[in-house]
Amino acid sequence: MSQHSTTAPAKTESLIQCGMVCFVGSGPGDAELLTVKAVRALEAADVILHDALVTDEILALANPEATLVAVGKTGFGPSTPQDEINRLIVLYAYAGLRVVRLKGGDPAIFARLDEEIAALELEDIGWTIVPGVTAASAAVAAIGQSLTTRGRNASLRILTGHVLEGFAEQDWRSLSRPGEVAAIYMGKRAARFIQGRLMMHGADPTTPVTLVSNASRPDQHVLASSLGTLSQDLAEAELHGPALTLYGIAPRAAASALTEIRKQEVS
Ligand SMILES: C[S@@+](CC[C@H](N)C(=O)[O-])C[C@H]1O[C@@H](n2cnc3c(N)ncnc32)[C@H](O)[C@@H]1O
Repeated sequence: MSQHSTTAPAKTESLIQCGMVCFVGSGPGDAELLTVKAVRALEAADVILHDALVTDEILALANPEATLVAVGKTGFGPSTPQDEINRLIVLYAYAGLRVVRLKGGDPAIFARLDEEIAALELEDIGWTIVPGVTAASAAVAAIGQSLTTRGRNASLRILTGHVLEGFAEQDWRSLSRPGEVAAIYMGKRAARFIQGRLMMHGADPTTPVTLVSNASRPDQHVLASSLGTLSQDLAEAELHGPALTLYGIAPRAAASALTEIRKQEVS
């Protein structure tokens, strides 16, 4: 029987044991956004297999004796194949080590968590999950906004711009209705595609679209755009690093300026 627990461990119980794997969310980059549990797991680990998006500042908090293994994936650059990642996690756990699989943001959002759990379950290896702050939360925090607002959106979509086969198809018809909000991961390169699909389905070109790159990091950057001008604004802005696209949300200052303009137009 594998020993993964679905209940919270008692305070005195060690979070991570020998021969076991702990999936840990590293958050969006700022080490101060790590949970206390994440820090405890990093301090207790013998080996840490980490994503490309995990910052050095966070890796510096790990047990100094721990072996750090980079198993990053990049959208269009060099990547460690998923089978190889699965193999390594199993290998280290079999060796009786305390293994941390450190993922950017939250391990349960676009992070291949299920595939890695399946590999462990096949070998009867125990595991546990420590959630992290996801990029969408860091991105809205950066622009002083909320992902859900009473009267604006009663639901929120979490989308990816990319799937294995290329740009991701979504339910464009429903997304193009007024008031829809989506947090789009891996959406920067897919921006023109997403723009085209939404406009084709009748979305309002003035719908706000905000990109936050490197959210929570010193090089954080905000691009306030609209659906109609998205590709052009993006080309001019030259955003670097990971970016979260917020469809239907403008930075708070821009949103209130817009409301002011509308009020003046009405009066
Ligand atoms: C493979 S997904 C992993 C998402 C991660 N599990 C999470 O919960 O944030 C990678 C994408 O997350 C987004 N992302 C991750 N970190 C980010 C950051 N600090 N700022 C903006 N977007 C980020 C980008 O869209 C990036 O392409």
